[in-house]
Amino acid sequence: MPAIVLVGAQWGDEGKGKATDLIGGQVDYVVKFNGGNNAGHTVVIDGETYALHLLPSGILTPSVTPVIGNGVVIDLAVLFQELDGLEARGIDTSRLVVSANAHLIPSYNRTLDKVTERFLGKRRIGTTGRGIGPTYADKMSRVGLRVQDLFDENILRQKVEGALEQKNQLLVKVYNRRAASVDEVTDELLGYADRLRPMVTDTALLLDQALTDGKVVIMEAGQATLLDVDHGTYPFVTSSNATAGGASTGSGIPPTRIDGVIAVLKAYTTRVGEGPFPTELFGAEGDRLRKAGGEFGTTTGRPRRCGWLDTVIGRYATRINGTTDLVVTKLDVLTGYDPVPVCVAYEIDGVRHDEMPMTQTEFHHAVPIFEYFEGWDDDISGARTLDDLPPAARRYLEAVEEMCNAPISAVGVGPGREQIVAIRDLVR
Ligand code: IMP
Repeated sequence: MPAIVLVGAQWGDEGKGKATDLIGGQVDYVVKFNGGNNAGHTVVIDGETYALHLLPSGILTPSVTPVIGNGVVIDLAVLFQELDGLEARGIDTSRLVVSANAHLIPSYNRTLDKVTERFLGKRRIGTTGRGIGPTYADKMSRVGLRVQDLFDENILRQKVEGALEQKNQLLVKVYNRRAASVDEVTDELLGYADRLRPMVTDTALLLDQALTDGKVVIMEAGQATLLDVDHGTYPFVTSSNATAGGASTGSGIPPTRIDGVIAVLKAYTTRVGEGPFPTELFGAEGDRLRKAGGEFGTTTGRPRRCGWLDTVIGRYATRINGTTDLVVTKLDVLTGYDPVPVCVAYEIDGVRHDEMPMTQTEFHHAVPIFEYFEGWDDDISGARTLDDLPPAARRYLEAVEEMCNAPISAVGVGPGREQIVAIRDLVR
C-alpha cells in the first residue's frame, strides 16, 4: 500500500502525529498537500518538543523526504524561520523539496486576512490571521503568486503590480489601511529566491517516480474534514480541500494510485474558531475536558472549544474520505468519565437525522441525541494491546467503529510516541 492519505476526521487537532509516529519507519515521502502555516503540530522526539506549522512532520525523520506540494500556500518568512529553528537544533533540513506551483502568501494578504475578520465583527470566521483565505482566493481569481515566479523577476513584478491594483483599493478605501508598495512586496519576496531555488522541483513528477519505484508516500492533510472548503461547515472552514480528494489535486498523485486513507478521530471533539458545534460543552464541563486534554492551539495558543464525540461526523468523514483505517486518539482523556456520552444522531426541528443534514441551516439547529456508555477508571496509558484495555473502553471502541463505519487500526492512549494500542498495520 504505497500511497496513503492521512486526514483529520473532525475540525482539526485530532493528533495526526500519532498515525505518522506509527508508520514513521516505513515511509519514504511525506507530502503536505493543502493549507499553510495555519496548521500546527507538536512532535516530541527523545524528550525534545518541536512545534511545526508549515513544514511536513517528515522533516524530523532523516530517512524521509518532506515535500511541500502544489496545493500549499507558503509564507516564505515562516518557512525559513522554521528551517533555521530546526537547523539550530541540529536537524538536517536539506531534504525538503518544494513544488514550483505552490502559491506564496504575500504580506498584503496577511493584512487583509486580519482586517477582513475585524470588519466582519460578529460574522467573523475566527481565522488564524495568516493570510490563508486571501491567498487561496487569489489563486482561484488567477492573481496569485507562485514559487516559480520568484525565478523571473519581471513576471513577479508584473504580477504583484496587477494584484495590488485591486488590493490597494481595498486596503485604502475600504479598510483605511496603508497601500502596499509594488517594490517593497517584490523585493521582500525576491530576497528569498536564491535560498529557495535548490529546494524547488516538479514535485508531481518526483512523486510519480517514487511510487513507480515502490516507495511509500504519505499525503498528510492540514486542517480536517469539517474545515474543508467544499465538504466542511462552510463558511466556517479553511480555504482549501482538507479531505482525501484534495490529496490528489494538491500533490499531483492521481486518485487511482491512492491505496488507503487513514482518518484520525479524537475520542471527543474540539474546534478552534467560530461555527456550529452540536456536542459542544460549556462552562465547567467544557473546562474539565479542555484541561484533561490540554486543548490549547499550537499555532495561536487559543483555548479550543471542547465537546463529546459526534459519530454523525465520524460517519460523514468515512463517507467523504473513503476511510480505510481509523486511528482514535486521546482515549486516555476520557478516563474517569462515567457514563461517556456519544452523539449518535441529531434532532433537527423535531426530526431525527442519522446523517449530516443537507444544509448548514439544519446543522446550526442540530441537537445531539446521545447514547451513554459505561466509563472506566483504570489508567490506560500503559496499554499496548486491546486486551490491556478495560472491557468498558473496548466496548466504547467497538461502538465507535460500528457507528463510524470503518475499522480502528490504532488507538492513542497518551502523548508519548509509544503510547499506542496498535491493532493493524497502517502500511500494508
Ligand atoms: P484559516 O485557515 O486561517 O483561514 O482559518 C479558517 C478556520 O479554520 C478557522 O476556524 C480556524 O480556526 C480553522 N483552522 C485553520 N487551521 C486549523 C488547524 O490546524 N486546526 C484547527 N483549526 C484550524
